[in-house]
Amino acid sequence: MRTYLVTGGAGFIGSNYIHYMFDKYDKDIRIINVDALTYAGNPENLKDIEKRDNYAFVKADICDKDAIEKIFKENDIDRVVHFAAESHVDRSIKDPEVFVRTNVLGTAVMLNQAKAAWELPDGSFMKDKKFLHVSTDEVYGSLSEDGGFFYETTPYSPHSPYSASKAGSDMLVKAYMDTYGFPANITNCSNNYGPYQFPEKLIPLMINNALNGKKLPVYGDGKNVRDWLYVADHAKAIDMVQEKGRLFETYNVGGHNEMQNIEIVKIIIETLNEMLPPDDPRKEHINTDLITYVEDRKGHDRRYAIAPDKIKNEIGWEPETSFREGIKLTIRWYFEHKEWMDNVTSGDYLDYYRSMYKE
Ligand code: NAD
Ligand code: TYD
Repeated sequence: MRTYLVTGGAGFIGSNYIHYMFDKYDKDIRIINVDALTYAGNPENLKDIEKRDNYAFVKADICDKDAIEKIFKENDIDRVVHFAAESHVDRSIKDPEVFVRTNVLGTAVMLNQAKAAWELPDGSFMKDKKFLHVSTDEVYGSLSEDGGFFYETTPYSPHSPYSASKAGSDMLVKAYMDTYGFPANITNCSNNYGPYQFPEKLIPLMINNALNGKKLPVYGDGKNVRDWLYVADHAKAIDMVQEKGRLFETYNVGGHNEMQNIEIVKIIIETLNEMLPPDDPRKEHINTDLITYVEDRKGHDRRYAIAPDKIKNEIGWEPETSFREGIKLTIRWYFEHKEWMDNVTSGDYLDYYRSMYKE
C-alpha cells in the first residue's frame, strides 16, 4: 500500500486530487494531508473523507521544518504531491512576501525533508520514492495574441510575484534533481476551474456575483486569454505523470481550451440562465448588464496557452471534459453547495473583496 504525503490538500486542486485518488484507489493507498489552513484552505472540502481509516490530516506550515521532518520520521512516505502554495496573482501584487516564504522556502523545506528521508548512505535514493511538484504555466510569462504556445522548453519569464515565486520553486526542484539525482517531476498546468474553488478566482467569483445580482468585474478590455482545464482532468494528469512519466521530466498540462475572459463571463451568464428553473427570480437580473469593466491588473499577462504534446504522446493523457460540460458541472456544484459558498464569502472574504474591488 503506497503512502502519499499531499501538501495543500485542503485547497482547491489538492482537495479535488484527494477525492480523485480515493475514488480511483479506494483502500489501496493511504493519504496524509498537510495543510496550514490559510484563508484558502478549508476542511469542509474534505468532510466526506475525513473519517476514512486510510486518511490523516496534519495541520502544519510547510515552512516548519520540524513538523515536516516529524511526518517523514513517523511514516514511510512513498509519494509526495506538493500543492501547498499561495496561489492568487492579485494577492501577490498586494503582498509579495508571503508568496516568497511559502512558495520558495516551503518548497525548499519539502524537498530537503524528502531528501533526508529517502537518501541512502551512498547518495542514491530508495527505490520507488517520488516527489511531484505542482506548478503553473504562468512561469513561462505571456504570449502574444497572434500565436505561439508554451512548451516544456520555453524559457521562464515570470511577471507577477506569484509566478516569480512559483518559478523559484520549480528551479529548486530542478536543482535537487540535477545536484542530487532527487526523484522528482514537475507539472506546469494551465488555469483550473471546478468544485471547491475559492471565489477570489475568475470563474467562482463570476458565478457567485451573478447569482447575487452583483457586478461582474472584468479587468481591462476583457480580452486576456487563459487556457482552461477542468480540475478533475488535472488530478488525473498528476497521477498519470507520477506513475507513468519519466522521472526528472517536466510535463505541461492543458487542453487547447483558450478563451478570452469576456467570453467566459458571457458563457457563465448564459449557462446560469439555462440551468436555473424558469420561475427563478434571479433570472431577471442575470444578464450582460452586470458586466462592468474595471481597472486592469498591474502587469496583466495577455495570453497563456499550453502545448500538451509531450504528456499526450508519452503518457497518453488528454483532457476528458469539454468547457461547456465542465462549466455545467461546476455551476451545478455551486448550486448544490450554497452553504459552502456562504461560509467562505463571509468575514475575511468581504474585507478582501472591498479592498480589491473598492465598491
Ligand atoms: P489554493 O490557494 O486553493 O490552495 C492552496 C492550499 O495550500 C490551501 O489549502 C492552503 O491552506 C495551503 N497552504 C498555503 N500556504 C501554506 C503553508 N505555508 N503551509 C501549508 N499549507 C499551506 O490553491 P490551488 O488553486 O488549489 O493551487 C494548488 C497548486 O496548484 C499551487 O501550487 C498552484 O500554484 C498550482 N496551480 C494552480 C492552478 C489554478 O488554476 N488554480 C493552475 C496551475 C497550477
Ligand atoms: P484568475 O482566476 O485570478 O487566474 P490567473 O490570474 O492565475 O490567470 O484570473 C483569470 C483571468 O481573469 C485573468 O486574466 C484576470 C481576470 N479576472 C478578471 O477579469 N476579473 C476578476 O475579478 C478576476 C478575479 C480575474
